[in-house]
Amino acid sequence: MISLLITFLIKKVETMRALTYHGAHDVRVDNVPDPTVQDSDDIILRVTATAICGSDLHLYRGKIPTVESGDIFGHEFMGIVEETGSAVTAVSKGDRVVIPFVIACGSCFFCQQDLYAACETTNTGRGAILNKKSIPPGAALFGFSHLYGGVPGGQAEYVRVPKANTGPFKVPGTLADEKVLFLSDILPTAYQAVLNAEIKSGSSVAIYGAGPVGLLCAAVAQMLGAERIFMVDHHPYRLAYAQKTYGVIPINFDEDDDPADTIIQQTPGKRGVDGVIDAVGFEAKGSTTETVLAALKLEGSSGKALRQCIAAVRRGGVVSVPGVYAGFIHGFLFGDAFDKGLTFRMGQTHVQKYLPELLEFIEAGKLAPEAIITHRMGLEDAAEGYKIFDKKQQDCRKIILTPGSTTIAQPVGNDMDAVPST
Ligand SMILES: NC(=O)c1ccc[n+]([C@@H]2O[C@H](COP(=O)([O-])OP(=O)(O)OC[C@H]3O[C@@H](n4cnc5c(N)ncnc54)[C@H](O)[C@@H]3O)[C@@H](O)[C@H]2O)c1
Ligand SMILES: [Zn+2]
Ligand SMILES: [Zn+2]
Repeated sequence: MISLLITFLIKKVETMRALTYHGAHDVRVDNVPDPTVQDSDDIILRVTATAICGSDLHLYRGKIPTVESGDIFGHEFMGIVEETGSAVTAVSKGDRVVIPFVIACGSCFFCQQDLYAACETTNTGRGAILNKKSIPPGAALFGFSHLYGGVPGGQAEYVRVPKANTGPFKVPGTLADEKVLFLSDILPTAYQAVLNAEIKSGSSVAIYGAGPVGLLCAAVAQMLGAERIFMVDHHPYRLAYAQKTYGVIPINFDEDDDPADTIIQQTPGKRGVDGVIDAVGFEAKGSTTETVLAALKLEGSSGKALRQCIAAVRRGGVVSVPGVYAGFIHGFLFGDAFDKGLTFRMGQTHVQKYLPELLEFIEAGKLAPEAIITHRMGLEDAAEGYKIFDKKQQDCRKIILTPGSTTIAQPVGNDMDAVPST
């Protein structure tokens, strides 16, 4: 009788649906407990739209330590404020907001300098630095392992959002969810990457990686007037889309084993491009040795994309790295970087800093980030979504998920290439 009562009570508490981790390549939509307000500056958000990010794929493939069975993924999400803690003043119940994936306090040494990803007060985890000494970890991130605080993510019906006086960003009701959802991560990430690369009118830029981040880098570079945009990947459908939509010069590294040389040949004086963006990160393909060493944990990251970037950029140029890296790389040609006098800029995105200006670009029609979406699915189908995105099936570029829906919604919008091929 007592055990029946306990089962009943557990069932009663575990009411919402969320995408949870159960081991590499095994994610499931489960019943989990509803989130509750824990700190006075928390809100509870009812999620209306969420997306799967390339960063989620690192978790999905089991490549990030300290991800535990049952952890809820998702750091790109938006919705309606359902409940507010007593100290929340910036938003109210019923507000429609996008949530930055970086959880920042807004008042520490780093937040005061708009370096939100470096916030030193929110992460209760260890952080990812190997040679850490005694410095505090960087900001907590939603749904991104216990290194980053073990904060439950937003691929769920509801989510607890800490630091709600700093993060949630109100968006006008005139813009559909999918037009503003990417303010949570990949649009500011692309924007920061392009600004870091110092791309302006007349610049040349090479972008490695034609995933969602690379594609939005191309969109931003085009908007800022870049004269030549090279893009390197090995998925012909992603390169073809970028060529058609953003006017990039595509290079397929399955057919061209030295894209950097091909890029240099097409720049004035064979100097290389002004700026280069590594939108690939530590799982870069192309070096069998590094792939094997990384699997054996004898190498932290594949250095393939980074070496290409260092080779493709001109002397005095900038290597901008939004792609996620972990630990050490043996094949890092630091001497080449020194000889060319390069600048490196990188890191998690200081999301909060960029949101007002990016919203203006969207409202003015200068940026249409939703154009990269190919799949609109119900949250219930999220596990299938991870498989499709991971394996690059059905010409997948970007998937958004809608809680409360079990059927795959019909794609909408005027980009017919965005229609999934199923
Ligand atoms: N800095 C941040 O705050 C931040 C935010 C979002 C995403 N990211 C990172 O950005 C990276 C890209 O994310 P995404 O969503 O576009 O992921 P994605 O996995 O869809 O895209 C990566 C692309 O890189 C390509 N690629 C692989 N090896 C390559 C190589 N050697 N040269 C050129 N291209 C290569 C792949 O074919 C793929 O199309 C990931 O590492 C992700 O974790 C960082
Ligand atoms: Zn992301
Ligand atoms: Zn802070």
